[in-house]
Amino acid sequence: MSYDVIIIGTGPGGYVCAVKAAQLGLKVAVVEKRATYGGTCLNVGCIPSKALLHASEMFHQAGHGMSALGIDVPAPTLNLGNMMAHKDATVKSNVDGVAFLFKKNKIDAFQGTGKIVSAGKVSVTADDGKVQDIEGKNIVIATGSDVAGIPGVQVEIDEKTIISSTGGIALEKVPETLIVVGGGVIGLELGSVWSRLGAKVTVVEYLDTILGGMDGEVSKQFQRMLAKQGIDFNLSAKVTGVEKADKGAKVTFEPVKGGDKVTLDAEVVLIATGRKPYTAGLGLEEAGVTLDNRGRVEIDGHYKTNVDGIYAIGDVVKGPMLAHKAEDEGVALAEILAGQHGHVNYEVIPSVVYTQPEIASVGKTEEELKAAGVAYKVGKFPFTANGRARAMLATDGFVKILADKETDRVLGGHIVGFGAGEMIHEIAVLMEFGGSSEDLGRTCHAHPTMSEAVKEAALATFFKPIHM
Ligand code: NAI
Repeated sequence: MSYDVIIIGTGPGGYVCAVKAAQLGLKVAVVEKRATYGGTCLNVGCIPSKALLHASEMFHQAGHGMSALGIDVPAPTLNLGNMMAHKDATVKSNVDGVAFLFKKNKIDAFQGTGKIVSAGKVSVTADDGKVQDIEGKNIVIATGSDVAGIPGVQVEIDEKTIISSTGGIALEKVPETLIVVGGGVIGLELGSVWSRLGAKVTVVEYLDTILGGMDGEVSKQFQRMLAKQGIDFNLSAKVTGVEKADKGAKVTFEPVKGGDKVTLDAEVVLIATGRKPYTAGLGLEEAGVTLDNRGRVEIDGHYKTNVDGIYAIGDVVKGPMLAHKAEDEGVALAEILAGQHGHVNYEVIPSVVYTQPEIASVGKTEEELKAAGVAYKVGKFPFTANGRARAMLATDGFVKILADKETDRVLGGHIVGFGAGEMIHEIAVLMEFGGSSEDLGRTCHAHPTMSEAVKEAALATFFKPIHM
């Protein structure tokens, strides 16, 4: 039996590509080495972390946010086992959902480690060592990414004391102290989870800002909010060593500009210094597939590698390592393989940090526009002036919109606030249609909603907001 497409990896890139290709009439096989589908995102990443972020926020609210609303409740007690059971059930329902989609779309799934033998042929080695060859016109590499570790530092991750994000969603008890190496997305999300559950969290970050690459105003204000929540920060600090100690572990860092070393102890240390493309054991070298200088599979504008019939999408190729970017690439590639014109607009990929408040962003930051020499205008609106936010005691944060000075076309949107991750999409849709801040400001928004702050920020961009 020969397939139209064989997809290696069933994360958001791979499984979505498989479903779309099958919907378009192609005969599809997937290869997955995990026992369940869905990749890092569904099994040990986005989905379980969101279950814990939600549950830990509820716990925090129950302990701190209720009496101001007139609800007097006794201090909540944590049942970490049940919280983890909620997380596991969430994962199960999602990975089962992917299995259902494979069945529904008549996609053949092969359990085992896939290796490209040559263009058109993939070998699958099952856990019991049995090898099976499958053939297909096209092969898609969708193997995702793995923990990168700390560049130049030998760290032994045991997932108990020195943990990656995988251990960070599965601790058996709340550590008294947690050091997070890396103030990026994973560090701040999982740092928030354990901080809310009672750990004293300290972040050590190389850059002089958290969430490097985000709009500068957003990261500065957000850091202040997290500090208020009790998280400590050491910025411009380069971690040079992480070692197990008698009790817990030790983290050594030095100022990036030079200076004395500092060593901190903690019960648990989370390493959250980025991820790297996962290409090991795939047979890429033998198949002649070229990698770029950062170890990513090199592709052209249509996801094709240098070898005919072999394609790649998601974290294993260039671009942001985001599940939704991988999904959209999966759809575009399926369309291309079915003879259509698949396309992803990389200018409009939202990104969300699921902390409290949430951080959401799409398009350009102010720093990027400055660096590119683009003349722009800024409109901002704080949630303190939004009626719904006041009613919900969710006044932390603001909306910021950046538009071209000449044309008023919206070039970027940034939101810090409750529900930011949902609100960002109206700016994304507007940007997809090349809309202006006036278009957004003149669109009727339901009252009272948090989204009115988006409209007001748009009004502030092209003229003046009403409520400020
Ligand atoms: P990241 O790239 O977001 O952050 C890593 C941080 O570690 C950077 O700020 C970097 O400067 C710092 N760092 C590196 N070496 C260091 C050293 N020696 N000492 C101190 N700091 C150091 O990577 P992260 O948080 O591990 O996430 C990995 C990937 O997963 C990212 O691409 C992220 O976008 C994605 N992800 C996305 C989520 C979301 O969209 N909500 C959630 C979780 C992960």
